[in-house]
Amino acid sequence: MATKKTSLRSVQWFGRQDIYGFIYRSWTKNRGIPQDQFDGRPVIGICNTYSELTPCNTHFRTIAEHVKAGVLEAGGFPLEFPVMSLGETLLRPTAMLYRNLASMDVEESIRGNPLDGVVLLAGCDKTTPATLMGAASVDLPTILVSGGPMLSGKYRGTDIGSGTNTWSMSEDLRAGKISLEEFHEAESCIHRSHGHCMTMGTASTMASMVESLGVGMPGNAAIPAVDARRNVLARMAGRRVVELVKQKMPLSKFLTKDAFENAIRANAAIGGSTNAVIHLIAIARRIGVDLRLEDWDRLGRGVHTLVNLMPSGKYLMEDFYYAGGVPAVLRELGENGLLHKDAMTVNGRTIWENNREAPCHNRDVVFPFGKPFKKNTGIAVLHGNLCPGGAIIKPSAATPKLMRHKGRAVVFESIEDFHGRIDDPQLDIDEGCVMVLKNCGPKGYPGMAEVGNMPLPPKLLKKGITDMVRISDARMSGTAYGTVVLHVVPEAAAGGTLALVENGDLIELDVAKRRLQLLVPAKELKRRRARWKAPKPQLARGYWKLYHDHVLQADQGADLDFLVGGSGPMVPRDNH
Ligand code: FES
Repeated sequence: MATKKTSLRSVQWFGRQDIYGFIYRSWTKNRGIPQDQFDGRPVIGICNTYSELTPCNTHFRTIAEHVKAGVLEAGGFPLEFPVMSLGETLLRPTAMLYRNLASMDVEESIRGNPLDGVVLLAGCDKTTPATLMGAASVDLPTILVSGGPMLSGKYRGTDIGSGTNTWSMSEDLRAGKISLEEFHEAESCIHRSHGHCMTMGTASTMASMVESLGVGMPGNAAIPAVDARRNVLARMAGRRVVELVKQKMPLSKFLTKDAFENAIRANAAIGGSTNAVIHLIAIARRIGVDLRLEDWDRLGRGVHTLVNLMPSGKYLMEDFYYAGGVPAVLRELGENGLLHKDAMTVNGRTIWENNREAPCHNRDVVFPFGKPFKKNTGIAVLHGNLCPGGAIIKPSAATPKLMRHKGRAVVFESIEDFHGRIDDPQLDIDEGCVMVLKNCGPKGYPGMAEVGNMPLPPKLLKKGITDMVRISDARMSGTAYGTVVLHVVPEAAAGGTLALVENGDLIELDVAKRRLQLLVPAKELKRRRARWKAPKPQLARGYWKLYHDHVLQADQGADLDFLVGGSGPMVPRDNH
């Protein structure tokens, strides 16, 4: 059988008429693949982050079958493969520690195999950036299909959302407002279907980023995981990726600076997670786009939150889908001069062609730009002596009156120190204090855990206090809220000023001026620095050591230094 003349990578495996071709084809045939599948048609990898240890991705075998159907319909040859999966809820010390490891798995699995194009299946928070980062470093034609959000949680007649109500109910329990029985009941009501967190947390945010970047099909972000239309989208992606291979349209054709700028503005408009800041910078640096922390501040200015979803608002992703989803938001941005309309997307049309006529069916869920849900809510990037490399705050989730605040520091040296003392009625803290948490950054935790939204002390919760200024080098769950300064650079464990803060120091936050200052004289800070000792890493071998020695700070995407950039789709030498 003749092989079509083609420049496809897969032909260097399957198109060979020698001992190597025998090996490459013959073992692949062992599950019943006919000879004609090796005739030079595009081979599409389906990169699956399915795992029972990642509850948000447990329906991915079904989605993969729909992608396969689409690939076959378009004349491609689908080959599904597993990669490391990352589940937020079970993986310790934090899934973020392994994002870069998973990205290496994705990158090398794609490069080392006979693939011409890839469909990435991702859902739970870190699986989206990990797969996109890895794929970007190879740069084949690629489409990401998100797993979709869970149906809305239902508890005693009200809707409850992942994370957001987990935090609020846990605080209600600690404040004695609800019983343990109610707490347990809510636990069973909140996550009642396949899919990822259905608040505008990190998973929904990153799925929205995929759609705004143009690397997912229109509608990718919000279709519920169990809605049949999610399977249709997967099938269409399977068909489409075959075309992308034929048209020679690698990921870099879509992941342009314009695409990232669109995504940053979309993030502000959806009230998206602060985690997107780190992930988008990391993805951009893999594909060679110069994206910086300052871009988030510059592009977010003048953008309003339009989407009334938890944690910033009251609805959930299911409502967002029925209201019009991300397309309705992109249309608002485009009509208000906030979208690069010519940015190409993987379905072959520009982002504006896809979204300019997108309907909105519920203006209480997606507000018009002229009458937004919250005004001026782009991520604010702070600077000052406490964060010379930058820090961020999400204004849409913060309390307006705390955005300018001066207070006495109450310092926790680690998350264990925090847990050990926060419930103590004798803790010297009041609502005007600034809570400071150290050693939770990339090196310090390790992995930069989502612990920045420290729960408030019970004695203040009982007084009805619901928010305080909190500062750390940690991240915050996308489902969390509060006046929380995050991603302080340099982190405490890398010797940042944060490491030098002591109880009683005055700290001044002024979000309007983008300032975060530790009001301690430079001479005193110098004295403290001379005494400071870097904490020892918890594990000094294996991946933890590699990570500790090579992880970059949050302002550079917390990637490993040697993973920045890409090596392209080179075909490695034969294996025998
Ligand atoms: Fe997986 Fe929230 S735990 S998305």
